Amino acid sequence: MSQHEKSDYRGPKRILSGIQASGSLHLGNYLGALKKFVAMQEENPFLFVADMHAITVWQDPKQLVEQRRGIAAAYLAAGLDPKKATIFPQSGVPQHAELAWVFNCTARLGWLDRMTQFKEKSGDNKERASVGLYTYPVLQAADILLYKATDVPVGEDQKQHLELSRDIADRFNRDYDAPGFFPLPEPLIQGPGARIMSLKDGSKKMSKSDPSDLSRINLTDDADAIARKIKKAKTDPEPLPDTLEELKARPEAKNLVSIFAALSGRSDEAVLAEYAGQGFGAFKPALAEVAVEHLAPVTAELRRLLTETGEIDRVLTDGAERARAVAEPVMDEVRAMVGFWKG
Ligand code: TYM
Repeated sequence: MSQHEKSDYRGPKRILSGIQASGSLHLGNYLGALKKFVAMQEENPFLFVADMHAITVWQDPKQLVEQRRGIAAAYLAAGLDPKKATIFPQSGVPQHAELAWVFNCTARLGWLDRMTQFKEKSGDNKERASVGLYTYPVLQAADILLYKATDVPVGEDQKQHLELSRDIADRFNRDYDAPGFFPLPEPLIQGPGARIMSLKDGSKKMSKSDPSDLSRINLTDDADAIARKIKKAKTDPEPLPDTLEELKARPEAKNLVSIFAALSGRSDEAVLAEYAGQGFGAFKPALAEVAVEHLAPVTAELRRLLTETGEIDRVLTDGAERARAVAEPVMDEVRAMVGFWKG
């Protein structure tokens, strides 16, 4: 891809991220995204529910309303305070779509052709995929740059989309001769939770689209379900080794160690130091205990919030207003730069 300009952006740091409103959340979303957002909330992140992205594949409209609430409830249940974080619905700020159109004309077909997520999601039947699914990463760039976000906490699967956002920002700045107008956003991916794998196959990421429910821990699972899924997780007969190096060829074992580490806020090395030499007969119950202890309060709060739709909708309404107040002046500048109509 293009040589990136050195970022000339001089504006303030802004943290932003989003979660798609499709299906329920799992432990990968929690460790790769939600837990990181909570750790950064003193820096007033912008966090949205990506309901516009959700319709790139068919969504029943009534369910979309519920799924949007579900993600907003998960933000709150994970511990985000809506006074610190601006929590909002993407479709409540139509400027996302407007900027995405401009970026559709900035991004090159060749850049999108390289996006592996489109290839995975469209499967064998590319001709029948929606055009929106193809330009999905362009809308993602608009989500980020509409707020001039500089830092984007995400799991590892979003790395390629973030690179595209940087390319779009760079190209726009050059095309309109406006060095530093948009920042080149940095993905924040590091940490043990960045790539949580399926409990049934250590070579596949934990995903909402996996047909087997045993492959993932859902944020709506109760303590029994969590313990049962960990007990049934695929492993191997060897005890845990002393070093990370020795875990490399054992993806399922490595995944469980990473989950333990991410949940308990420790490093993989620290977990190994404690459990080296022990088999899964001992490690799995310890992991189940940590998982239940950590997730039970989140799950309970999530269940409570889902019955309080008024409370969730108030947070989203207020968040949309705050988000629009930041987005509109940026969009207004873009309209002028591009030469659009000014009424
Ligand atoms: P989504 O909804 O698929 O996932 C939300 C977040 O969860 C992370 N994640 C994982 N992290 C670790 N291990 C896993 N197995 C795992 N699975 C998912 C994702 O990396 C993500 O951080 N396109 C985005 C939503 C989006 C967005 C944005 C994100 C739209 N616009 C702008 C950042 C900025 C998505 O579909 O994430």
